[in-house]
Amino acid sequence: MAVPLWLLLALLGCATAPDPALEETWEGWKSLHAKEYPAEAEATRREVWEQNLRRIQRHNRQEAEGQHSFRLAMNHHGDLTDEEFNQLLNGFSPARWDEPALTFKASAALKTPAEVDWRAKGYVTPVKNQGHCGSCWAFSATGALEGLVFNQTGKLVVLSEQNLIDCSWKLGNKGCQGGYMTRAFQYVHDNGGLNSELLYPYLGTDTSSCKYSPQDKAANCSAIWQVAQGSEAALEQAVATVGPVSVAVDASSFHFHFYKSGIFSSRFCSQEVNHGMLAVGYGRSQQPGHNASFWILKNSWSERWGEQGYIRLLKGADNLCGVANQASFPVL
Ligand SMILES: *[C@@H]1O[C@H](CO)[C@@H](O)[C@H](O)[C@H]1NC(C)=O
Ligand SMILES: *[C@@H]1O[C@H](CO)[C@@H](O)[C@H](O)[C@H]1NC(C)=O
Ligand SMILES: *[C@@H]1O[C@H](CO)[C@@H](O)[C@H](O)[C@H]1NC(C)=O
Repeated sequence: MAVPLWLLLALLGCATAPDPALEETWEGWKSLHAKEYPAEAEATRREVWEQNLRRIQRHNRQEAEGQHSFRLAMNHHGDLTDEEFNQLLNGFSPARWDEPALTFKASAALKTPAEVDWRAKGYVTPVKNQGHCGSCWAFSATGALEGLVFNQTGKLVVLSEQNLIDCSWKLGNKGCQGGYMTRAFQYVHDNGGLNSELLYPYLGTDTSSCKYSPQDKAANCSAIWQVAQGSEAALEQAVATVGPVSVAVDASSFHFHFYKSGIFSSRFCSQEVNHGMLAVGYGRSQQPGHNASFWILKNSWSERWGEQGYIRLLKGADNLCGVANQASFPVL
């Protein structure tokens, strides 16, 4: 059967002519983020980047008119289409709970503070960058373990995602193709430890063999808790009483990819989670006419994304982006 020509063109991603007015901005963006392309790829990347830039500008114009509660900005992922972005970076697989995990439920008797921010208490390491590898699950897991180690020892130790990527395949994690925070905790539990980032640095690839060094263990895990699925009340109590908690969200929208600041409240967000992050607290912002509650989530897309690497996500809005659907934490 003959394929219509227009379809062929679309599939091949043929580039339209670049906007000459954006030449300088494009060159500046490339040099800022050290982007170099083979000659045959440059036109396509430029076209994707221009489309993203125009969508960002349109959103921010609408924000200025009061239509949105958050702003977007071009970032180092500006040369990726939505599909490429999701394929490269969102590596969380929703888990079926194959064994009975301990479930953390909301308790009516427990009073939580109005605001919590574990960053201010020293529990949270600097924002990291997963690169072009779907290893968000490993970053989310190390974040929760780093908080746990700090609570136990009073020392903040940056833990190794590469250790989790290289060594937890047999638990069903798939390196740069995705994985599960609970199974990362399970690895630390079964293995009897995890190495530090310093000793076992991040490569952003999943082709190396396991190099865990048992004499240099920097973390422990004796049990794994799952937060009652879908309950923001239980998640709030867990974050308030335990420390940073691993969560998963639907991060697949354009708005999420280019989020810059404000309280994220996009309608383009489903309950189907695909990206591991770390809940480090929650708070409230007083805006004229209405107060908005938010979760503070640490991402692993570098400090160039969002509010120095973090997002404030609308809280108490029917579990926006599925934030309470797959929350879990390790204990000692
Ligand atoms: C660890 O957690 C316990 C109980 O939540 C708390 O009382 C203690 O102060 C924490 N330790 C540190 C170093 O934050
Ligand atoms: C791990 O647990 C053991 C015993 O339960 C303890 O002695 C050790 O200090 C822990 N290590 C870390 C890094 O927390
Ligand atoms: C917002 O919060 C402040 C302080 O908690 C409170 O005084 C005020 O009534 C709230 N406003 C609305 C619209 O809920």
